Amino acid sequence: MATRSSGQLVAVLDFGAQYGQLIARRVRDLHVYSELVPCDVSAAELAQMKPSALILSGGPASVYAEDAPHVDPAIFELGLPILGFCYGHQTMAVALGGEVAHAEKGEYGPASLVRSGSSELLMSTPGEQTVWMSHRDSVCRVPKGFSVTARTETCPVAAMECAERRLYATQFHPEVRHTDYGRRMLENFLFGICRLEPNWTMDNLIDEKVDQIRAQVGNDRVILGLSGGVDSSVVAALVHRAVGDQLTCVFVNHGFLRQGEPELVEEVFRDQFDMSFVHVHAEERFLRLIAGVTDPEKKRKLIGTEFWKVFFEEAQRLDGVRFMAQGTIYPDIIESGARKTGGKASTIKSHHNLIPFPPGVHFDLIEPLDHFFKDEVRELGMALGLPESMVYRQPFPGPGLAIRIIGEVTSEKLEILKAADAIVREELDAYNTRLFEQTGEHNSEHSCWQYFAVLPDIRSVGVMGDERTYGHTVIVRAVESSDAMTADWAKLPYEVLGSISSRIVAEVAGVNRVAYDVTPKPPATIEWE
Ligand code: XMP
Repeated sequence: MATRSSGQLVAVLDFGAQYGQLIARRVRDLHVYSELVPCDVSAAELAQMKPSALILSGGPASVYAEDAPHVDPAIFELGLPILGFCYGHQTMAVALGGEVAHAEKGEYGPASLVRSGSSELLMSTPGEQTVWMSHRDSVCRVPKGFSVTARTETCPVAAMECAERRLYATQFHPEVRHTDYGRRMLENFLFGICRLEPNWTMDNLIDEKVDQIRAQVGNDRVILGLSGGVDSSVVAALVHRAVGDQLTCVFVNHGFLRQGEPELVEEVFRDQFDMSFVHVHAEERFLRLIAGVTDPEKKRKLIGTEFWKVFFEEAQRLDGVRFMAQGTIYPDIIESGARKTGGKASTIKSHHNLIPFPPGVHFDLIEPLDHFFKDEVRELGMALGLPESMVYRQPFPGPGLAIRIIGEVTSEKLEILKAADAIVREELDAYNTRLFEQTGEHNSEHSCWQYFAVLPDIRSVGVMGDERTYGHTVIVRAVESSDAMTADWAKLPYEVLGSISSRIVAEVAGVNRVAYDVTPKPPATIEWE
């Protein structure tokens, strides 16, 4: 389902997933719709997509490497404005008859860029400025008709252009924050050179999505599996806005959500949104399912499979449902596409085959978020009126607390973990708020990014009053991170750790010890299972 507004599309030809994604996000930050396209797309295929402009991303390869990705040279004949970065800059040079040489010395990190001559791309940026470089090869001869508009000490062609054909390229990365005027350059390209309009806004998008969903669904019924997570909640709100009571949400409560979460889901969707809402209390069923299971992978698998089983049992009770709405988001698609194309990010290889439809059951899928990045999904959620605590909830594993209880999961352990976890969250929410009040930043250097309690399979001796106890230990896990790929343990003040600890042992029966996990990722992971 296309997401472009007013027909504008900036296609990012992706030579290496992480670079392309970042560029698409930056373009969208400027309210222009952008999508990743595999770099080996043919000019004819590209022309069919009717893009307004192209950006060639950076990539890890050397243009002369044997397996180096190449663009179809005919794309330069489509008459589209094109901007290339890093590998994209070199590819453009080579494709149009210039030359790239392997330099003696690479250039990595900040570099001082010196402009020469006028350039619409670099307009309103200083003659000397800091840019971010990451390359060894360099363009040593520009193609015919091109001029050099900037250089650095080690890179003679740091920016080149053929303004007449609207072809521009930079060796540095304007998409990274360390390039001081990168955003200005992108604005110059999108609005000055390409004459695009910044009209990709949340309000426009909601209207557009609602129209699309209505057109697709017609008078049919839609079902959606709610997990309590951000993506499925946002899809629920969006599809409900489009088709109202034709949507039925099935909330599969496996019993492993955090304290207060099932109640919040029910309150938001049943009461606030007044949706047709089925709350399936499967808590006992899931506990029985994993009774005695201690292997983390086995727990995850059993819970994941059962979730869908419960959902489809419920779905089959409803008559005349043709569609199933799903919270697939853009990174899911890019990642599954990247795997299928051997590293190059590719568009649309949907997750359809991952849904375990039972024999004889089939629904047509609606995936309205399949071209949104996570932060856009959150923005959409807020614009649709979902509560902030739901939209900005911390990452949470699908199998939930079941994998934060090490070893066997029992109802007694679940109760202990829920209570301890609620205290950790309460105390650290308050700590983050205090930091925010002091620094004015939501994600200041010391704020915690994700925090929770873990219940390990340990008991130890303690003393409470005059009595010897033999109780559970609770581990507090709190990390600083931006994307969960790497993380460091949060350097929490002793007083904060102290109050978490004393509250847990005082308020949670059965716990007599609290420990703090001081391991970064890597070598540990954020979760314990
Ligand atoms: P690890 O433990 O691998 O976790 O460092 C990285 C991030 O992913 C979250 N996580 C999950 N998120 N479904 C999710 O949506 C899952 O099954 C899952 N398992 C881990 C974890 O909380 C951390 O933020």
